[in-house]
Amino acid sequence: MPIFYVLVGPCAGDLTGLSERVQTLVRTRPGQRVGARRSAAASTIPAMPATHRIALLPGDGIGKEVVAEARKAVDALGLAIEWTHLPWGSDFYLEHGQMMPDDWAATLRAHEAILMGACGWPTVPDHIALWGMILRIRQVLDLWANVRPARLLPGIPTPLAGRTAADIDMVFVRENTEGEYAGVGGRAHQGLSVEVGVETAVFTRAGIERVVRFAFGLAAQRKGVLTSATKSNASRYGYVLWDEVVEEVGAGFPGVRVERVLVDALAARMVSNPGSLDVVVASNLFGDILTDVAAAIQGGMGMAASANTAPGSAEPGLFESVHGSAPDIAGKGVGNPVAAIWSAVLMLEHIGEPAAAAQLMAAIEAVCLTGPRTRDVGGIAGTAEVGDAVVARLRG
Ligand code: IPM
Ligand code: MN
Repeated sequence: MPIFYVLVGPCAGDLTGLSERVQTLVRTRPGQRVGARRSAAASTIPAMPATHRIALLPGDGIGKEVVAEARKAVDALGLAIEWTHLPWGSDFYLEHGQMMPDDWAATLRAHEAILMGACGWPTVPDHIALWGMILRIRQVLDLWANVRPARLLPGIPTPLAGRTAADIDMVFVRENTEGEYAGVGGRAHQGLSVEVGVETAVFTRAGIERVVRFAFGLAAQRKGVLTSATKSNASRYGYVLWDEVVEEVGAGFPGVRVERVLVDALAARMVSNPGSLDVVVASNLFGDILTDVAAAIQGGMGMAASANTAPGSAEPGLFESVHGSAPDIAGKGVGNPVAAIWSAVLMLEHIGEPAAAAQLMAAIEAVCLTGPRTRDVGGIAGTAEVGDAVVARLRG
């Protein structure tokens, strides 16, 4: 568990350091002056090698294949890491009738971070699989900030004609616990012709404020522009509240220019002028949809990484590729492991290993530039071949 933190000021750097910089919290290194979490008291702890406890949750389909490569890459960095393999997911469901064991939360909380593959498989209805695992973990651990870098790496083809890596470098901050994913609703008159299904989006001031504040902090460390995705022209309550909170929080960040953009127009702008976007903050469903568009622009779902965290809390962050379990290609060894390895970079930042994170990111960038690459990004290599190349870069 991440127990001790030291407060630091924001510093410049690339976006891979966003988790700890925005939290302005870093894990202490041996011998540093530290304050216990949420405490101002400082003390000195003796030097000792830190062993990171990481939960490995491969899940379903290609999740298993890409997480294996991510683990391989992290292991090649030579950090002291203790992995706990958790065989949860759709296979577990078929055997036990649930996606995860009853004590899942305590098990995860005994770790600093969770490296996850994907969940969902044709044998289990999607809403059961997802509400039984990923959505439950996000909600119960209150992992409210879903940060998704969408950067085109040199060597990776984008479907946008005439665009290069210089044009595509966005970070999405997706609210991760409420909005359209609050899980509030119900069905009435089941099976009758008058049957109704109600799904209610829930927006709370506190829920909006924390994620918007986080996004402003990130924008302040990047180009100083924050784009807020809204739909307050049609949704009179939730998104009007969203806009009001954005304006209020923005008053505390005079150095950041905030623009309010209707989500439909924003989706179009991501395609027509991606270079005009830097940090985007969005509600849960808008963030979900926009980050699939972003993934396509950065070379496809195989390139899109994500961090689910609760900044400022002791909850373990969950790091996962944005893609799903991909039943169509699962088991063939052809899935792109870059999103999973990039997610591991975000995880290394989270556990206070920024140097290792930077090293791994550099290795990913080198492999994307020179190959080998998987088929989805114009290459011919398999999953393990790309993972091996990343490891070779780290060793070389
Ligand atoms: C994502 C996924 C999930 C989501 C699914 C699997 C529930 O699409 O992480 O973007 O909608 O959040
Ligand atoms: Mn999605």
